[in-house]
Amino acid sequence: MPVILGIESSCDETSAAICADGIMLSNIIANQTIHEAYGGVVPELASRVHQQNIIPAVQQAIINAKVSKNDIDAVAFTRGPGLLGSLLVGVSFAKAFALAQNVPLIDINHMQAHILAHFIGIDKPQFPFLCLTVSGGHTQIVLVKDYFDMEIVGQTQDDAAGEALDKTSKVLGLPYPGGPLIDKYARLGNPDAFKFPEPNIPDFDFSFSGLKTSIMYFIRDNQAKNPDFVAQNMADICASVEKRVVTILLNKLEKAAKAYDVKTIALAGGVSANTGLRLGIQQLADKHNWKSFIPAFEYCTDNAAMIAIAGHYKFLKGEFIGQQVAPLARMPF
Ligand code: KG4
Ligand code: ZN
Repeated sequence: MPVILGIESSCDETSAAICADGIMLSNIIANQTIHEAYGGVVPELASRVHQQNIIPAVQQAIINAKVSKNDIDAVAFTRGPGLLGSLLVGVSFAKAFALAQNVPLIDINHMQAHILAHFIGIDKPQFPFLCLTVSGGHTQIVLVKDYFDMEIVGQTQDDAAGEALDKTSKVLGLPYPGGPLIDKYARLGNPDAFKFPEPNIPDFDFSFSGLKTSIMYFIRDNQAKNPDFVAQNMADICASVEKRVVTILLNKLEKAAKAYDVKTIALAGGVSANTGLRLGIQQLADKHNWKSFIPAFEYCTDNAAMIAIAGHYKFLKGEFIGQQVAPLARMPF
Protein backbone atom coordinates (compact mmCIF):
# COMPACT_ATOMS: atom_id res chain seq x y z
CA MET A 1 0.00 0.00 0.00
CA PRO A 2 2.30 2.79 -1.20
CA VAL A 3 1.81 6.27 0.25
CA ILE A 4 2.81 8.83 -2.37
CA LEU A 5 3.43 12.56 -1.93
CA GLY A 6 2.64 14.40 -5.17
CA ILE A 7 4.09 17.85 -5.97
CA GLU A 8 2.87 20.14 -8.78
CA SER A 9 4.46 23.52 -9.61
CA SER A 10 4.53 23.74 -13.42
CA CYS A 11 2.65 27.01 -13.82
CA ASP A 12 0.88 29.20 -11.26
CA GLU A 13 -0.62 26.65 -8.87
CA THR A 14 1.47 25.29 -6.00
CA SER A 15 -0.06 21.97 -5.08
CA ALA A 16 0.67 18.99 -2.84
CA ALA A 17 -1.35 15.79 -2.46
CA ILE A 18 -1.12 12.48 -0.65
CA CYS A 19 -2.49 9.22 -1.97
CA ALA A 20 -2.41 5.83 -0.25
CA ASP A 21 -2.88 2.73 -2.37
CA GLY A 22 -4.35 4.89 -5.13
CA ILE A 23 -6.90 6.54 -2.80
CA MET A 24 -6.55 10.33 -2.60
CA LEU A 25 -6.29 11.45 1.02
CA SER A 26 -5.58 15.15 0.43
CA ASN A 27 -5.09 17.66 -2.37
CA ILE A 28 -3.98 21.18 -1.41
CA ILE A 29 -3.92 23.82 -4.14
CA ALA A 30 -2.49 27.29 -3.47
CA ASN A 31 -3.53 29.63 -6.28
CA GLN A 32 -1.43 32.67 -7.15
CA THR A 33 -3.48 35.84 -7.39
CA ILE A 34 -0.45 38.07 -8.03
CA HIS A 35 -0.73 37.54 -11.82
CA GLU A 36 -4.22 39.04 -12.12
CA ALA A 37 -2.75 42.54 -12.23
CA TYR A 38 -0.65 41.61 -15.29
CA GLY A 39 -3.29 39.81 -17.38
CA GLY A 40 -1.23 36.60 -17.54
CA VAL A 41 1.28 34.52 -15.62
CA VAL A 42 4.61 36.32 -14.98
CA PRO A 43 7.16 33.47 -14.76
CA GLU A 44 9.60 35.21 -12.41
CA LEU A 45 6.81 36.08 -9.96
CA ALA A 46 5.36 32.56 -10.21
CA SER A 47 8.58 30.87 -9.08
CA ARG A 48 8.94 33.23 -6.13
CA VAL A 49 5.40 32.55 -4.96
CA HIS A 50 5.98 28.78 -5.38
CA GLN A 51 8.90 29.15 -2.97
CA GLN A 52 6.64 30.79 -0.40
CA ASN A 53 3.81 28.28 -0.85
CA ILE A 54 5.49 24.92 -1.23
CA ILE A 55 6.32 24.08 2.40
CA PRO A 56 2.92 25.17 3.82
CA ALA A 57 1.13 23.28 0.98
CA VAL A 58 3.03 20.05 1.73
CA GLN A 59 2.52 20.46 5.47
CA GLN A 60 -1.22 20.95 4.99
CA ALA A 61 -1.44 17.96 2.61
CA ILE A 62 0.21 15.76 5.27
CA ILE A 63 -2.09 17.08 8.03
CA ASN A 64 -5.27 16.67 5.95
CA ALA A 65 -4.27 13.14 4.94
CA LYS A 66 -3.79 12.26 8.62
CA VAL A 67 -0.44 10.62 7.90
CA SER A 68 3.04 11.33 9.20
CA LYS A 69 5.86 12.30 6.88
CA ASN A 70 7.56 9.02 7.83
CA ASP A 71 4.63 7.13 6.23
CA ILE A 72 5.50 8.51 2.78
CA ASP A 73 7.03 5.83 0.51
CA ALA A 74 7.94 7.99 -2.51
CA VAL A 75 7.78 11.56 -3.83
CA ALA A 76 6.25 12.12 -7.28
CA PHE A 77 6.80 15.51 -8.89
CA THR A 78 6.03 17.33 -12.15
CA ARG A 79 9.23 17.27 -14.18
CA GLY A 80 7.70 19.10 -17.17
CA PRO A 81 6.41 20.57 -19.39
CA GLY A 82 5.98 23.98 -17.80
CA LEU A 83 7.75 27.16 -16.74
CA LEU A 84 11.35 26.28 -15.92
CA GLY A 85 11.66 28.50 -12.84
CA SER A 86 8.38 27.18 -11.43
CA LEU A 87 9.30 23.56 -12.14
CA LEU A 88 12.68 24.07 -10.44
CA VAL A 89 10.99 24.92 -7.13
CA GLY A 90 8.92 21.72 -7.12
CA VAL A 91 11.77 19.53 -8.37
CA SER A 92 14.22 20.92 -5.79
CA PHE A 93 11.72 20.47 -2.98
CA ALA A 94 10.94 16.89 -4.06
CA LYS A 95 14.66 16.02 -4.20
CA ALA A 96 15.37 17.52 -0.77
CA PHE A 97 12.37 15.77 0.79
CA ALA A 98 13.29 12.42 -0.76
CA LEU A 99 16.91 12.77 0.37
CA ALA A 100 15.94 13.71 3.92
CA GLN A 101 13.40 10.89 4.20
CA ASN A 102 15.47 8.37 2.24
CA VAL A 103 12.61 7.53 -0.16
CA PRO A 104 12.68 7.26 -3.97
CA LEU A 105 11.76 9.96 -6.47
CA ILE A 106 9.27 9.54 -9.34
CA ASP A 107 9.28 12.00 -12.26
CA ILE A 108 5.92 12.74 -13.89
CA ASN A 109 4.93 14.30 -17.21
CA HIS A 110 2.29 16.97 -16.46
CA MET A 111 0.25 16.22 -19.61
CA GLN A 112 0.16 12.49 -18.89
CA ALA A 113 -0.88 13.29 -15.32
CA HIS A 114 -3.86 15.36 -16.55
CA ILE A 115 -5.04 12.18 -18.31
CA LEU A 116 -4.27 9.89 -15.37
CA ALA A 117 -6.53 12.09 -13.19
CA HIS A 118 -9.25 9.77 -14.55
CA PHE A 119 -7.87 7.01 -12.35
CA ILE A 120 -8.65 8.89 -9.13
CA GLY A 121 -11.94 7.55 -7.80
CA ILE A 122 -14.03 4.51 -8.52
CA ASP A 123 -15.31 4.97 -12.08
CA LYS A 124 -12.17 4.50 -14.19
CA PRO A 125 -12.03 4.36 -18.02
CA GLN A 126 -10.90 1.16 -19.71
CA PHE A 127 -8.03 1.13 -22.21
CA PRO A 128 -7.91 2.12 -24.99
CA PHE A 129 -9.61 5.50 -24.80
CA LEU A 130 -9.20 8.85 -26.53
CA CYS A 131 -8.54 11.83 -24.30
CA LEU A 132 -9.02 15.44 -25.37
CA THR A 133 -6.51 17.32 -23.21
CA VAL A 134 -7.26 21.03 -23.23
CA SER A 135 -5.35 23.47 -21.05
CA GLY A 136 -3.92 26.96 -21.16
CA GLY A 137 -0.85 25.69 -22.98
CA HIS A 138 -1.94 22.49 -24.78
CA THR A 139 -4.68 21.10 -26.99
CA GLN A 140 -4.15 17.42 -27.76
CA ILE A 141 -6.09 14.33 -28.73
CA VAL A 142 -4.29 11.43 -27.08
CA LEU A 143 -4.80 7.72 -27.73
CA VAL A 144 -4.34 6.19 -24.28
CA LYS A 145 -3.36 2.52 -24.62
CA ASP A 146 -2.10 2.03 -21.07
CA TYR A 147 -1.10 4.16 -18.04
CA PHE A 148 2.16 5.26 -19.63
CA ASP A 149 1.58 4.16 -23.22
CA MET A 150 0.05 7.22 -24.85
CA GLU A 151 0.20 8.57 -28.41
CA ILE A 152 -0.66 12.11 -29.47
CA VAL A 153 -2.83 11.71 -32.59
CA GLY A 154 -3.69 15.40 -33.00
CA GLN A 155 -2.66 18.73 -31.53
CA THR A 156 -2.81 22.45 -32.03
CA GLN A 157 -0.57 23.99 -34.66
CA ASP A 158 -0.58 27.33 -32.87
CA ASP A 159 -2.58 28.59 -29.87
CA ALA A 160 -4.14 26.30 -27.28
CA ALA A 161 -7.91 26.35 -26.72
CA GLY A 162 -7.50 27.80 -23.21
CA GLU A 163 -5.16 30.47 -24.56
CA ALA A 164 -7.78 31.49 -27.15
CA LEU A 165 -10.38 31.81 -24.37
CA ASP A 166 -7.98 33.73 -22.12
CA LYS A 167 -7.00 36.14 -24.92
CA THR A 168 -10.64 36.67 -25.89
CA SER A 169 -11.52 37.48 -22.31
CA LYS A 170 -8.68 39.98 -22.15
CA VAL A 171 -10.14 41.84 -25.15
CA LEU A 172 -13.51 41.75 -23.40
CA GLY A 173 -11.88 43.46 -20.42
CA LEU A 174 -12.23 40.45 -18.09
CA PRO A 175 -9.46 39.59 -15.58
CA TYR A 176 -7.02 36.67 -16.04
CA PRO A 177 -7.66 33.75 -16.30
CA GLY A 178 -10.71 34.43 -18.42
CA GLY A 179 -11.84 30.86 -19.20
CA PRO A 180 -13.95 30.47 -16.04
CA LEU A 181 -15.54 33.92 -16.60
CA ILE A 182 -16.38 33.16 -20.23
CA ASP A 183 -18.04 29.99 -18.87
CA LYS A 184 -20.01 32.03 -16.32
CA TYR A 185 -21.28 34.62 -18.84
CA ALA A 186 -21.91 31.98 -21.52
CA ARG A 187 -24.58 30.36 -19.32
CA LEU A 188 -26.60 33.60 -19.57
CA GLY A 189 -26.23 34.17 -23.32
CA ASN A 190 -27.40 32.92 -26.72
CA PRO A 191 -24.74 30.65 -28.32
CA ASP A 192 -26.14 31.37 -31.80
CA ALA A 193 -26.12 35.17 -31.45
CA PHE A 194 -22.80 35.56 -33.33
CA LYS A 195 -21.07 33.23 -35.79
CA PHE A 196 -17.34 32.59 -35.73
CA PRO A 197 -15.48 30.49 -38.33
CA GLU A 198 -14.48 26.84 -37.92
CA PRO A 199 -10.92 26.43 -39.30
CA ASN A 200 -10.29 23.81 -41.95
CA ILE A 201 -7.28 21.89 -40.57
CA PRO A 202 -6.36 18.40 -41.79
CA ASP A 203 -6.65 15.17 -39.78
CA PHE A 204 -7.02 15.58 -36.03
CA ASP A 205 -4.99 18.76 -35.59
CA PHE A 206 -6.30 22.10 -34.40
CA SER A 207 -5.64 25.78 -35.01
CA PHE A 208 -7.02 28.54 -32.81
CA SER A 209 -5.06 31.57 -33.98
CA GLY A 210 -7.44 32.32 -36.90
CA LEU A 211 -10.45 32.10 -34.61
CA LYS A 212 -8.74 34.35 -32.09
CA THR A 213 -8.01 36.95 -34.78
CA SER A 214 -11.57 36.86 -36.10
CA ILE A 215 -12.91 37.39 -32.57
CA MET A 216 -10.55 40.37 -32.10
CA TYR A 217 -11.67 41.99 -35.40
CA PHE A 218 -15.32 41.28 -34.62
CA ILE A 219 -15.05 43.08 -31.28
CA ARG A 220 -12.96 45.95 -32.68
CA ASP A 221 -15.35 46.58 -35.61
CA ASN A 222 -18.47 46.48 -33.43
CA GLN A 223 -16.91 48.68 -30.77
CA ALA A 224 -16.09 51.27 -33.47
CA LYS A 225 -19.82 51.43 -34.28
CA ASN A 226 -21.01 51.21 -30.67
CA PRO A 227 -18.57 51.85 -27.77
CA ASP A 228 -20.89 49.94 -25.40
CA PHE A 229 -21.07 46.86 -27.66
CA VAL A 230 -19.11 44.58 -25.30
CA ALA A 231 -20.97 45.61 -22.16
CA GLN A 232 -24.34 45.25 -23.89
CA ASN A 233 -23.55 41.85 -25.44
CA MET A 234 -21.14 40.21 -22.97
CA ALA A 235 -23.25 37.08 -22.38
CA ASP A 236 -24.03 36.52 -26.08
CA ILE A 237 -20.36 37.04 -27.11
CA CYS A 238 -19.14 34.59 -24.44
CA ALA A 239 -21.80 32.01 -25.32
CA SER A 240 -21.01 32.24 -29.07
CA VAL A 241 -17.22 32.07 -28.56
CA GLU A 242 -17.57 29.12 -26.19
CA LYS A 243 -19.88 27.31 -28.61
CA ARG A 244 -17.37 27.64 -31.45
CA VAL A 245 -14.40 26.50 -29.35
CA VAL A 246 -16.41 23.52 -28.08
CA THR A 247 -17.60 22.50 -31.58
CA ILE A 248 -14.06 22.75 -32.99
CA LEU A 249 -12.77 20.50 -30.18
CA LEU A 250 -15.57 17.94 -30.25
CA ASN A 251 -15.81 17.67 -34.06
CA LYS A 252 -12.15 16.59 -34.11
CA LEU A 253 -12.60 14.25 -31.18
CA GLU A 254 -15.56 12.60 -32.95
CA LYS A 255 -13.54 12.24 -36.17
CA ALA A 256 -10.59 10.72 -34.29
CA ALA A 257 -12.76 8.30 -32.30
CA LYS A 258 -14.31 7.01 -35.53
CA ALA A 259 -10.91 6.71 -37.25
CA TYR A 260 -9.33 4.83 -34.34
CA ASP A 261 -12.52 2.86 -33.64
CA VAL A 262 -12.42 3.83 -29.97
CA LYS A 263 -15.69 3.93 -28.06
CA THR A 264 -14.53 5.61 -24.86
CA ILE A 265 -13.79 9.34 -24.92
CA ALA A 266 -12.52 11.56 -22.12
CA LEU A 267 -11.66 15.15 -21.24
CA ALA A 268 -8.66 16.44 -19.28
CA GLY A 269 -6.92 19.73 -18.49
CA GLY A 270 -8.13 23.09 -17.22
CA VAL A 271 -10.61 23.76 -20.03
CA SER A 272 -12.42 20.51 -19.19
CA ALA A 273 -13.90 22.50 -16.27
CA ASN A 274 -15.97 24.29 -18.94
CA THR A 275 -19.70 23.66 -18.64
CA GLY A 276 -20.38 23.72 -22.40
CA LEU A 277 -17.56 21.27 -23.13
CA ARG A 278 -18.66 18.91 -20.35
CA LEU A 279 -22.23 18.87 -21.65
CA GLY A 280 -21.03 18.58 -25.24
CA ILE A 281 -18.88 15.48 -24.70
CA GLN A 282 -21.76 13.74 -22.92
CA GLN A 283 -24.07 14.52 -25.86
CA LEU A 284 -21.44 13.26 -28.31
CA ALA A 285 -21.06 10.01 -26.38
CA ASP A 286 -24.86 9.56 -26.15
CA LYS A 287 -25.22 10.14 -29.90
CA HIS A 288 -22.90 7.21 -30.71
CA ASN A 289 -23.56 5.08 -27.64
CA TRP A 290 -19.96 5.69 -26.51
CA LYS A 291 -18.80 6.13 -22.92
CA SER A 292 -17.50 9.51 -21.76
CA PHE A 293 -15.35 10.40 -18.76
CA ILE A 294 -14.88 13.83 -17.23
CA PRO A 295 -12.66 14.45 -14.20
CA ALA A 296 -14.14 16.01 -11.06
CA PHE A 297 -13.71 19.81 -11.05
CA GLU A 298 -10.82 19.82 -8.57
CA TYR A 299 -8.83 17.48 -10.84
CA CYS A 300 -9.38 19.49 -14.07
CA THR A 301 -7.15 22.51 -13.46
CA ASP A 302 -3.58 22.01 -12.25
CA ASN A 303 -3.40 19.92 -9.08
CA ALA A 304 -1.02 17.54 -7.33
CA ALA A 305 -3.60 14.75 -6.96
CA MET A 306 -3.04 13.87 -10.63
CA ILE A 307 0.73 13.81 -9.99
CA ALA A 308 0.25 11.55 -6.96
CA ILE A 309 -1.96 9.08 -8.85
CA ALA A 310 0.49 8.98 -11.77
CA GLY A 311 3.23 8.41 -9.15
CA HIS A 312 1.21 5.55 -7.69
CA TYR A 313 1.13 3.69 -11.02
CA LYS A 314 4.84 4.35 -11.66
CA PHE A 315 5.62 3.11 -8.14
CA LEU A 316 3.82 -0.15 -8.93
CA LYS A 317 6.00 -0.50 -12.04
CA GLY A 318 9.11 0.24 -9.96
CA GLU A 319 10.06 3.23 -12.13
CA PHE A 320 12.11 5.67 -10.09
CA ILE A 321 14.55 8.44 -10.96
CA GLY A 322 17.84 9.50 -9.35
CA GLN A 323 18.79 12.72 -7.56
CA GLN A 324 20.49 14.03 -10.73
CA VAL A 325 17.09 14.63 -12.39
CA ALA A 326 16.49 18.13 -13.84
CA PRO A 327 13.19 19.76 -14.85
CA LEU A 328 12.27 19.99 -18.53
CA ALA A 329 10.37 23.03 -19.85
CA ARG A 330 9.50 20.91 -22.88
CA MET A 331 8.96 17.26 -22.14
CA PRO A 332 7.83 14.73 -24.73
CA PHE A 333 5.54 11.84 -23.74
O1 KG4 B 1 -4.60 22.81 -17.03
P1 KG4 B 1 -4.60 24.21 -16.57
O2 KG4 B 1 -5.05 24.50 -15.15
O3 KG4 B 1 -3.19 24.87 -16.70
C1 KG4 B 1 -2.35 24.61 -17.76
O4 KG4 B 1 -1.63 23.55 -17.68
O5 KG4 B 1 -2.39 25.42 -18.72
O6 KG4 B 1 -5.51 25.03 -17.60
C2 KG4 B 1 -5.73 26.43 -17.47
C3 KG4 B 1 -6.70 26.87 -18.55
C4 KG4 B 1 -6.82 28.39 -18.64
O7 KG4 B 1 -6.74 28.75 -20.02
C5 KG4 B 1 -8.22 28.67 -18.10
O8 KG4 B 1 -8.81 29.84 -18.65
C6 KG4 B 1 -8.95 27.42 -18.52
O9 KG4 B 1 -8.03 26.39 -18.26
N1 KG4 B 1 -10.19 27.19 -17.75
C7 KG4 B 1 -11.43 27.24 -18.29
C8 KG4 B 1 -12.33 27.00 -17.24
N2 KG4 B 1 -11.62 26.80 -16.09
C9 KG4 B 1 -10.30 26.90 -16.44
N3 KG4 B 1 -11.81 27.48 -19.55
C10 KG4 B 1 -13.14 27.48 -19.79
N4 KG4 B 1 -14.08 27.26 -18.85
C11 KG4 B 1 -13.73 27.01 -17.57
N5 KG4 B 1 -14.67 26.80 -16.65
ZN1 ZN C 1 -2.13 21.69 -16.68
